Amino acid sequence: MLTTRTIDETRDAIAKARKSGCTIGFIPTMGFLHDGHLSLIEAARANGADFIVVSIFVNPAQFGPNEDFEQYPRDEARDAALLESRSIDLLFLPSVSVMYPIGSQTLVHTGAVARPLEGERRPGHFDGVATVVLKLFNIVEPDLAVFGRKDAQQCAVIERMVRDLDVPVKLVFAETAREPDGLARSSRNSYLTADERAIAPTLYRALRAGEEAISQGVHDTRAIESLMRKTIEEARGVTIDYLAVVDPETFLPAADFHRDILIAGAVKVGRTRLIDSVRLARG
Ligand code: PAJ
Repeated sequence: MLTTRTIDETRDAIAKARKSGCTIGFIPTMGFLHDGHLSLIEAARANGADFIVVSIFVNPAQFGPNEDFEQYPRDEARDAALLESRSIDLLFLPSVSVMYPIGSQTLVHTGAVARPLEGERRPGHFDGVATVVLKLFNIVEPDLAVFGRKDAQQCAVIERMVRDLDVPVKLVFAETAREPDGLARSSRNSYLTADERAIAPTLYRALRAGEEAISQGVHDTRAIESLMRKTIEEARGVTIDYLAVVDPETFLPAADFHRDILIAGAVKVGRTRLIDSVRLARG
């Protein structure tokens, strides 16, 4: 595994691989890797990538002023060892000054899909995500890039950006990797105390209750949301940020229950904010 920290050495290494006929697969991350991230490597291989690039960059542009940029967990040595054990080809570890040199001022302006839910609670977040992902795409020029469905709105925002800006990359979306009790794997789970960890799966339980109601024929978003709300309120210590039944392309409230439906939620457990979603394929 090669490790690079500058844009030039990254481009050089990838150009060589491309020249020798490799299909470049790319997985952007913010590190503190877990099995969810590692499953994206498998998805890249399953989709034909034979030169795998992983980036680790905690992107300041996607954190709000009162969010956890400083505290975000980082462990470069552990991450590098994990990636080495998965035989990836290149680890790109840029610094903030490599990605945003002094004078840098251009941002991707995301549209309507970035406005509800996460976008409403985290102003500027998706512009920061889209900007860094486009920059990374321009550096790596991957044939395919893999993203996790756990961050469902992020997937929709990136899909929209790739279409709108004619980015020549194939996107692959991978299922959410979970702990045995259902909790979606996340770097932020490391913030949870033992007591908080015990109640954290409540979010997924609520989403599953919503899913169950829909498959039993409840087609009223308000009724589904209030049922999920009840599931969460029964577990003390979990505060709801939002619970929503939406169209997975627009992120607007689901209107047509014959099309795919996304049930998305965000909660706070102690000071930790957790998000999760389940997608129902229909028709
Ligand atoms: P990060 O939270 O590190 O996640 C990197 C990738 O791993 C994302 O595509 C995310 O959806 C995926 N992922 C996280 N948890 C997962 C799980 N439990 N199962 C499957 N996939 C999972 O998302 C980001 O970083 C950043 O916003 C980034 C795209 C790197 C831009 O900065």
